[in-house]
Amino acid sequence: MRTALVTTRLRLDACTPSDAAELHVLFSDPLTNTIGSGPFTALDQTEQWIRKRIRFQEEHGLCWYAVRTLGTGTLIGNCGLLVGRTWPAGPELGYLIGAAHQRRGYASEAAIAVVAECRASRVPRLWSTIRPHNEPSRRIAERLGLRLDHTGHDDRGALDHYAADLTP
Ligand SMILES: CC(C)(COP(=O)(O)OP(=O)(O)OC[C@H]1O[C@@H](n2cnc3c(N)ncnc32)[C@H](O)[C@@H]1OP(=O)(O)O)[C@@H](O)C(=O)NCCC(=O)NCCS
Repeated sequence: MRTALVTTRLRLDACTPSDAAELHVLFSDPLTNTIGSGPFTALDQTEQWIRKRIRFQEEHGLCWYAVRTLGTGTLIGNCGLLVGRTWPAGPELGYLIGAAHQRRGYASEAAIAVVAECRASRVPRLWSTIRPHNEPSRRIAERLGLRLDHTGHDDRGALDHYAADLTP
């Protein structure tokens, strides 16, 4: 996958260690980081998160991008692919947008660009795991053409697994 993408309003650049402070603002915000184990409490957690994404890039060619507005360059979120629960059946798509910037179509815009890049890079199958209550995430997945494959369960409850076949 290419390490830089541009959309109408956004610039997506593969995350690097120098994004840590800006990304940590989002990951430590309880209004934004409402997934996983919740808000990060130490910068080290964000640094570790970035290191993992860089490893997925080096080992599997997958990119996770810092999402910035084109005009101001403000970091408003992140979006990309990871080796997650659905591996090796395919990588998982994820996105997060800062609470102050939500509901303006930014996550959809970023995710559409990332999925187009997946097709260009011949990723055969894409997954997204979504809690049943996460309506915005489900709407994005469905808009991208992902469909409910099955519902699994973990220690936090039900988890819907959406998938899309990207082969032409
Ligand atoms: C999920 C998330 C990335 C959406 O970001 P966003 O930039 O607000 O999304 P968009 O503006 O592109 O909206 C996507 C859709 O969800 C809807 N939506 C957005 N926020 C919503 C809300 N709070 N309640 C209901 N619907 C909502 C939008 O109307 C839009 O619907 P449409 O496509 O039918 O028009 C954001 O809420 C977030 O970061 N949440 C925390 C992290 C997270 O849940 N990530 C996904 C893990 S699976």
